[in-house]
Amino acid sequence: FTDFQLYNEEVPQFLPGSKEIKNLEKALEHYENNCEDIPIVINGKEIRKGQETYQVMPHRKGHKIAKYYYADNATIEEAIRASVEKQKEWDRTPLTKRIEIWERAADLMTHKYRADLLATTMLGQSKTVIQAEIDSGAELIDFVRMNAGYLKQLANDQPLSPQPEITKNSLRFRGLEGFVAAITPFNFTAIGGNLAYTPALMGCSVLWKPSDTAMLSNWTVFKIMREAGLPDGVVNFVPAIGKNFGDTITSSPDLAGINFTGSTATFKTLWKLVGDKIDTYKNYPRLIGECGGKNFHFIHPSANVQTAVAQTIRSAFEYGGQKCSACSRLYVPESLWESQFKGPLIEKAKDLQIGDVRDIGNFYGAVIDENSYQRILGFINEVKNDPECTILAGGNLSNLKGFFVEPTIVQVKDTNKRVIRDEIFGPVLSVYVYKDSDLDKTIDLVRTATKYALTGSVFATDESFLKRALEEFKHAAGNFYINDKSTGAVVGQQPFGGARQSGTNDKAGCPFYLMRFASMQAVKETF
Ligand code: ALA
Repeated sequence: FTDFQLYNEEVPQFLPGSKEIKNLEKALEHYENNCEDIPIVINGKEIRKGQETYQVMPHRKGHKIAKYYYADNATIEEAIRASVEKQKEWDRTPLTKRIEIWERAADLMTHKYRADLLATTMLGQSKTVIQAEIDSGAELIDFVRMNAGYLKQLANDQPLSPQPEITKNSLRFRGLEGFVAAITPFNFTAIGGNLAYTPALMGCSVLWKPSDTAMLSNWTVFKIMREAGLPDGVVNFVPAIGKNFGDTITSSPDLAGINFTGSTATFKTLWKLVGDKIDTYKNYPRLIGECGGKNFHFIHPSANVQTAVAQTIRSAFEYGGQKCSACSRLYVPESLWESQFKGPLIEKAKDLQIGDVRDIGNFYGAVIDENSYQRILGFINEVKNDPECTILAGGNLSNLKGFFVEPTIVQVKDTNKRVIRDEIFGPVLSVYVYKDSDLDKTIDLVRTATKYALTGSVFATDESFLKRALEEFKHAAGNFYINDKSTGAVVGQQPFGGARQSGTNDKAGCPFYLMRFASMQAVKETF
């Protein structure tokens, strides 16, 4: 493995009339006009039974794009049995062969199915073309290609063998014995792909429960991996009702790990289920979780205001604030707020157009579903009735045609308000204006105001403050940015994950992540 080089996939420009746009238009037409019938897949067998459900477009809510089936408990158990059997054989497949499959998959995603990945993500998850590309295009391809590359690097590392003519020491990667359950979110197709397929790359077998609201794009990923040569049964596609899936997988003695992205509450429920049954498992299950966040932008009086405003707007409102990394609390000093910050921030938010994601003039589409809409509505109604909160921009919603929420900015006088402490997962930004003389107190507030620690950014030009910020915010964010937005981590460049209640911080997009799915064996051979 000497030919391995790290590089990130390029994002095309999607110029009008370009090949990319033509391919995409064709794919969008196809997926808009055909409701795909998506099966459960166990060991290669396609099963169409169980409660029928539909995926609809969030921005055109009556419009069905996929039909799928919830696996019942007996079907989930069948998938577990098949996975456990398959793992014994798959784990013996040489690393070189696995890496070849992943590289083939990355090529298929890059050259043959990019438009399908983008179209299914745009329509199903309501992403604009650029937001779909940086997810189901570039980021997904990066995960697939770079994880294969990391495995090459890791396989090269050998521990010391001081007298190789007498003894040889080595570390063998073994896939986790049993099965891994991948429970994946709607907001990134790439996260679904990474969570389901990285354990498989390391020799695990997987039950993949995709998000209901990302079914079509996730199914597209599944089909591509199959075409790339991944043997049947290594990853099994098992849509299911969350509670049934969680109860069934945690009841199996063969549970080897849970690879999860979603809410903090659900991750804790799974953790408790595993804890309660800890005596029943053959191995200690590995629990890997990326959960909630309440990410901050902290503006220092020395900040470049233009940069800070522009980056805050992008972080808070791209994809309607539904990136786990989105900024949802902003701290601005009094010396900058009225004179320089407030006007441009409000103006830029009001300029953003929202609507159908096929219209390239729109900045974002709809929020994902009725539940999400109602949760955001709850927060907005709460601030409308609170004299200590002022809505500076937005605040209007409509769920008539789709789940649309205006970019909303709320100024709070009291930092104990729910809107600036709790996760909203929508286009709602809270602002707190601090007295410049309260700088130290405010730093402390930013660090401790929430139970999360996913992403955060500091904007400043004062170099001594920036040095201090690196220490002050060390535990306040798993991904920390200086003079840049809190979103947009790039695979291999900024490995992603948060600590505290935001997750186990296992950092997707770097070699260490792979090790969570390997159980190693040290071998000493004596000659
Ligand atoms: N990787 C995504 C981001 O950083 C979640 O925005």
